[in-house]
Amino acid sequence: MSRSFKIRDIEINPPLILSPMAGVTDVSFRRLIKGLGGVGLTVSEFISVEGLTRSNPKSKRQMRFYPDERPFAAQIFGGRPERMRMAAEMAEEVGADMLDVNCGCPAPKVVKHGGGSGLLKDHPRLETILREIKKTITIPLTVKIRAGFFDHTINAVETAKLAEDCGAEHIALHGRTKEQGYRGLANWDLVRQIKEVVKVPVSGSGDVTTIEGALARFAETGCDGVLIGRGAMANPWIFRQIEDTMQGREVFQPTLEDKRQLLLEYFDLLRADMPEAPAINRMKQLAGQFTRGLQGGALFRTAVYHSHSVDEILGRISEYFEAIEAGRPYFGEGAATEIVEAPELDSCEAASVAVQT
Ligand SMILES: Cc1cc2nc3c(=O)[nH]c(=O)nc-3n(C[C@H](O)[C@H](O)[C@H](O)COP(=O)(O)O)c2cc1C
Repeated sequence: MSRSFKIRDIEINPPLILSPMAGVTDVSFRRLIKGLGGVGLTVSEFISVEGLTRSNPKSKRQMRFYPDERPFAAQIFGGRPERMRMAAEMAEEVGADMLDVNCGCPAPKVVKHGGGSGLLKDHPRLETILREIKKTITIPLTVKIRAGFFDHTINAVETAKLAEDCGAEHIALHGRTKEQGYRGLANWDLVRQIKEVVKVPVSGSGDVTTIEGALARFAETGCDGVLIGRGAMANPWIFRQIEDTMQGREVFQPTLEDKRQLLLEYFDLLRADMPEAPAINRMKQLAGQFTRGLQGGALFRTAVYHSHSVDEILGRISEYFEAIEAGRPYFGEGAATEIVEAPELDSCEAASVAVQT
């Protein structure tokens, strides 16, 4: 099985998308993952149109991308058609290959202003926004939606049809409702249902963490693409491994050295892009997910969490990998005795706190 799909004339090959995650999929993370292979499309974190159109430095930074990430979609969120239109134009101006409208974020701060998943319960507003944007940009317009707003108002199929009528050229569905947040499992049958009624390509999102999971979702739903978010933090090679399987190649298995290099490369990318303190926090975030299932991972995670400087983090990484490579047990040198649990990464909520709308 090997297939790609097109969003207008842009080939998404392989049909695997790094799902947008606010506070995670910034330019450094995307470059890291893209470099490992298997990613057919990268998407920015959701960017506030209110911030962007007022030249907020954070929003402008979020619009940056590396040329080697292409194809790249800029994702914007907001509830005001005029601001959405202006922001979409800015995305086209900076060279994004497509413009994605966020219709899924459940954060109260975003929904309150009509944006994110608020658009799922206000189709007239969604229609106005999409038509306004469509009038302005020439790059493809895409949408990322949720199953519905409330558990009793599931309307993903109607939302998808509306988006297509307004000119959207790709629909991505995260099959949970806004009410559901990140609880339970994503409903992939809705992806199948959307695929049956729209002509544009359809991709699904939610809970894909294994090769088998991705292949099963393609087979069950007939979807064109699969998005992977949280699974990419636990296993950054997942895209490449799925692609290997689709191409009938031997599946790449990262060595310990690959894992060490990945952490070091990510830290370098982060430090080149931001001050030390946020770079350290981002490292802790990745380490929290990445160490799940690694031998001695809990102690390593704890050691990283209790580090306060670049040198300390680098020291912990060396100690850990040297111990494991030498077959020695890792005792978490420098770590406090209390084990840090890997936190659940479960929303755009925390990231949106800083958002001005
Ligand atoms: C920390 C975090 C931040 C997220 N931020 C965004 C976002 O900015 N835009 C968006 O469309 N979806 C966002 N999502 C939703 C993901 O893109 C994805 O649809 C969801 O996590 C389900 O897929 P997964 O199980 O592969 O992670 C976010 C999810 C997480 C966990």
